[in-house]
Amino acid sequence: MLRVEKATAAYGRVTVLREVSLTVNDGEIVTLIGANGAGKTTLLNSIVGVVPIKSGSIWLDDRQISGLQPHRTVGLGISYIPEGRQIFGSMSVMDNLTLGAYSQCSRNHLSTLGYIGWFLRRPDVRSNLDMVFNLFPVLRERQRQQAGSLSGGEQQMLAIARALMSSPRMLLLDEPSLGLAPNLVKDILRLLARLRDEGFTILLIEQDAAAALKIADRGYVMERGRIVIEGSSRELLGNDEVVQAYLGKTRG
Ligand SMILES: Nc1ncnc2c1ncn2[C@@H]1O[C@H](COP(=O)(O)OP(=O)(O)OP(=O)(O)O)[C@@H](O)[C@H]1O
Ligand SMILES: [Mg+2]
Repeated sequence: MLRVEKATAAYGRVTVLREVSLTVNDGEIVTLIGANGAGKTTLLNSIVGVVPIKSGSIWLDDRQISGLQPHRTVGLGISYIPEGRQIFGSMSVMDNLTLGAYSQCSRNHLSTLGYIGWFLRRPDVRSNLDMVFNLFPVLRERQRQQAGSLSGGEQQMLAIARALMSSPRMLLLDEPSLGLAPNLVKDILRLLARLRDEGFTILLIEQDAAAALKIADRGYVMERGRIVIEGSSRELLGNDEVVQAYLGKTRG
């Protein structure tokens, strides 16, 4: 489904991705492991078009997506949940979700939130809303609450729910469990496994690499901008180098 081929990216003169190749097949969870500064976030930013690549190519099925603007990659079914949630804290849960769906629609049709009533009657938006409320019953209960007053775990659920509102095929998640208590980390990962079972394809960065490998199908290890190890989750969990460097300090 997603294929990155020898992608190179730089900030100014500092090269951050060096000929990175990676694939994510339909219906897989693939996790990207690496130390701070290895280039993981940059890779996600390159996939969605926020950071342009200097060489190499990125493909979604047989369409080249490198060079596309971020709103075009969302339109093609890739939804990005960046680090730090970035929900709209002063808006209600419902308005956050509606905005998530809005990104898939032609901007010409909607210019202000005054259209929300009309928008929510669209069948596709309605059915996405039903789906996310079934996945996250707590968001249904709290749909009128200000998003900024949700707990950390609830805010992360809202960030994922909002991403699902754009009818994606693929989710890119950057450390969705950052700052969450260990039991919530497990809940989020369990949820991702469920989404995979429902047909979504997922590329996940997760600082608890051991926990991520438990739900992932495959993984890649990145060091200083290069992919240095790749394999099935089972292979990586049994790889001495990976265990020593990345699986030593697991949480809960
Ligand atoms: N906007 C930017 N401008 C300049 N340098 C940047 C920028 N963003 C990231 N970098 C640098 O690029 C390198 C890779 O950063 P990146 O955020 O991709 O790493 P990461 O693997 O996601 O790390 P972490 O685990 O800490 O999130 C780092 O050295 C970082 O300082
Ligand atoms: Mg990062």
